Amino acid sequence: MENRTVTVDLDDRSYDITIGMGLLEKAADFIPMSLSNKSVFIIYDESVLNYAETVANNINSTDAKSVYLVGVPSGESSKSFASVQSITEQILEKGISRNSLVIAVGGGVIGDLAGFCASILLRGVPFVQIPTTLLSQVDSSVGGKTGINTAQGKNLIGAFYQPIAVIIDTETLETLPERQVLAGYAEIVKCGLLYDAKFYAWLEEHGRAVTQLKHAHLVRAIETSVIIKAEVVKADETEQTGMRALLNLGHTFGHALEAAAGYDGRLLHGEAVSIGTIMALDLSARLKFITEDDFDRVIDHFEEIGLPTDLSVISPPLTASMDKYIETMRRDKKAVDGQMQFIVCKKIGKAAVHSDVSEKLIREIFRDTFGPDYQAILASQTVTEFKMKGVRGLWKSAFSSQS
Ligand SMILES: NC(=O)c1ccc[n+]([C@@H]2O[C@H](COP(=O)([O-])OP(=O)(O)OC[C@H]3O[C@@H](n4cnc5c(N)ncnc54)[C@H](O)[C@@H]3O)[C@@H](O)[C@H]2O)c1
Ligand SMILES: [Zn+2]
Repeated sequence: MENRTVTVDLDDRSYDITIGMGLLEKAADFIPMSLSNKSVFIIYDESVLNYAETVANNINSTDAKSVYLVGVPSGESSKSFASVQSITEQILEKGISRNSLVIAVGGGVIGDLAGFCASILLRGVPFVQIPTTLLSQVDSSVGGKTGINTAQGKNLIGAFYQPIAVIIDTETLETLPERQVLAGYAEIVKCGLLYDAKFYAWLEEHGRAVTQLKHAHLVRAIETSVIIKAEVVKADETEQTGMRALLNLGHTFGHALEAAAGYDGRLLHGEAVSIGTIMALDLSARLKFITEDDFDRVIDHFEEIGLPTDLSVISPPLTASMDKYIETMRRDKKAVDGQMQFIVCKKIGKAAVHSDVSEKLIREIFRDTFGPDYQAILASQTVTEFKMKGVRGLWKSAFSSQS
């Protein structure tokens, strides 16, 4: 199958995303600058050293001056000031100039971190993304958001900094654990729900083939997701008009769950997005934007694929109080003057920003999303009924009593 190319059209910051198999071995072919006599720095996730070496061998076969490998330990904790300092000092030590190239090889952690380093080294050097997780291939490598975490929260330090190319080699996914594949799928299905009803319907039919990494289906899902992301980013590169915020469907809820889990591996970002998307659609249904049938349809699809829809997957359970979730959401980057902002679906395939939501409603949605194991959290709530009916059963009765 031929490679697919999607262009992110951003004037002089435009770049191509190439999707195909076996691209690592010929990565240099997709880098739109001469490497002649240049230094190339490959910042990679230590768990994918072999992929970084494949890229390094290919660059070494060109007339580049030198190739350096800079390893970073796997995991979210690498998105830190300490890593930025260590990486940038290693690179400065080797000697970098404005026309050197930085390449990221790894998942979203490495892409965000290496991109941020590239944006501040000599005030900005060219940067290429080679994402190796499904989540980073469909989402984080596209659009130019780079950054790190601090004690105050995720991604609060960073820069908008576009790569000069994104090279997506789908073969790298063959070593990715299934749990990570599903986490990436959550961002794919999010794209359909927020922007493209036809794509969502296609996923209902073929989502299984995507998560089983059937090549043709996988490429189509990745390509469609990056086209959607590229369109939204083109319309609102630096999040000025609210358009780009639509990509955060499921993320206001999801971020609150991630924060409660303390980024300790109990809940992957994509899993939080999966549960958060269900909560956002629950909200959309309660606000009467989508029908109860639409909401059920989405739950059915998530369940069929094996995406989490409530908190029963998190073990040991989260212990944060309801107030804590509300507080986190008020402090979210997307909140305006403490007013929570939610992305809702006006219908399947069309999202909108909505801020006029009562705290009571949000608390109800959280309550219904907590599985029966969350009695400690629920102890302070009046939900004896909840324990008897189960999570979504209670929601349905709440829904019908309102309508
Ligand atoms: N910049 C953006 O627009 C944006 C968007 C979404 C998410 N993000 C960020 O992305 C990060 C999450 O990205 P992620 O889900 O890719 O996580 P990740 O980078 O931590 O990768 C997940 C795990 O997979 C391993 N891994 C990577 N590639 C592999 C492969 N091919 N085979 C086997 N194992 C492999 C990694 O070592 C890691 O353990 C978060 O920090 C999130 O904030 C950024
Ligand atoms: Zn996300």
